[in-house]
Amino acid sequence: MDLGLTYERAAEILKKHNQSHLLSFWDELSAGQQAGLLGQIASLDFAQLDNWVKTYVVNAGGPVIPANFGPAPYYPASPRPGQEELYQKAREKGVELLKAGKVAAFVVAGGQGTRLGYDGPKGNYPVSPVKKKTLFTLFGEQILAASRRYGRGLSWYVMTSPLNHEATVEIFEKAGFFGLGRENIFIFQQGTMPNFAFDGKILMADKGSLALSPDGHGGSLKALYQSGAVADMAVKGIEQISYFQVDNPLINIFDPLFIGFHAMDGAGMSSKALKKTGPLEKVGNFCLVDGKVNVIEYSDLPDEMAEKTKADGSLVFELGSIAIHIISREFIESLNKGGFALPFHRAVKKIPYIDWAGKLVEPKGPNGVKLETFVFDALNFASKSVILETIREQEFGPVKNATGVDSAQSSRVMQVERAAGWLEAAGVKVPRSGAGVDAQIEISPMFALDKEEVLAKRGMIGDISARSEVYLG
Ligand code: UTP
Repeated sequence: MDLGLTYERAAEILKKHNQSHLLSFWDELSAGQQAGLLGQIASLDFAQLDNWVKTYVVNAGGPVIPANFGPAPYYPASPRPGQEELYQKAREKGVELLKAGKVAAFVVAGGQGTRLGYDGPKGNYPVSPVKKKTLFTLFGEQILAASRRYGRGLSWYVMTSPLNHEATVEIFEKAGFFGLGRENIFIFQQGTMPNFAFDGKILMADKGSLALSPDGHGGSLKALYQSGAVADMAVKGIEQISYFQVDNPLINIFDPLFIGFHAMDGAGMSSKALKKTGPLEKVGNFCLVDGKVNVIEYSDLPDEMAEKTKADGSLVFELGSIAIHIISREFIESLNKGGFALPFHRAVKKIPYIDWAGKLVEPKGPNGVKLETFVFDALNFASKSVILETIREQEFGPVKNATGVDSAQSSRVMQVERAAGWLEAAGVKVPRSGAGVDAQIEISPMFALDKEEVLAKRGMIGDISARSEVYLG
């Protein structure tokens, strides 16, 4: 709350920016509600507001495609002939940084998860095939197992939003901070943006508060700094941040190869990429613009460019973005010290609001605009940026929707498939039918973090019979 803003001053500022309606119900509010509303108004960025309305709300705005760009170079998932030694060196560098405690985990969990439609923070959604462990539990176990492997307590930074912060903190407290030690966990909130009607007026959630939503995963780059998380990292000697999304249980949080390439090349922000399933797959495309890695959204890349192929028939723009990054602490510090702004992306949504009579409206169709920043737009600010290809089946099974594509069900199938693959690589016979693996198999991160660890524990693994449930924990 900003104690400096009075009703009179707020009314004056709002009038100048065509937002006077925000005080329509002032006389009906309690003193506490009035103070809360003034606080929300004070936190609006009036220097930018009119420009946002003009560029992104009243007009469709949006990023402009650069005039010249090509595909971005990358390290393939497996070394090309002659690169074996380089890959080995990168892996060793990654292990060295992990053992020195210079890498932290960072999950962005501030999203609203509207597509999943789950009541509560998405990280609390049960996703594992046998034990139905939640996303947060799987990440917590992975970080604990990695801490044991590398001989030190690795830190975990968690970004929430004002909409799910308290609930998330409660989940972590109830789970005893997943055994990681309270001192190794840092939970902080991202910023918000007001929601707009199509005419540029800020919508109200009720008589005493604005309709606000989290400012996008790009907001993490400011929130990490403003919350003190980056300062905490500096004190702990953390140099690299492993960024991942809350919805992907297959994430390999501490991948020495990825960390190693990023550090060896002195990159500010690096990315993992997938070969796209087809030219129009709905993922961002890794491109090179003026020598810099950029992600161009699928909706912005013209179809004829997306469909262009090389002599061998593969796509020119073959790499898709999956929101897995290593970001240097120094890069975030320099962005924030210098001042930076990511472009906004406009999403037309159904936004509940109160009308001018003070009645709550649940719109049946889209009625307004939410503005979000995307973390990959920061790649453009990095003087160096590495891309490492990864394999979809090993590392990307997101839970976005309640059913169908990218749902908990499809993610569970992928979790079982990956576990089966690791077991088969260790010589374990896995029952299969036409439909895939004919058993429910779950390998806890505490049992094995990768297929090499499964092989090392081969002696502890029994037979797997058809239609059984197997949990290795
Ligand atoms: P999504 O783009 O999938 O959005 O977020 P979402 O809000 O989770 O889900 P929908 O679109 O409403 O169904 C990708 C990742 O970025 C995080 C999410 O928590 C998820 O890990 N995110 C997104 C934030 O942390 N903050 C945001 O403002 C938006």
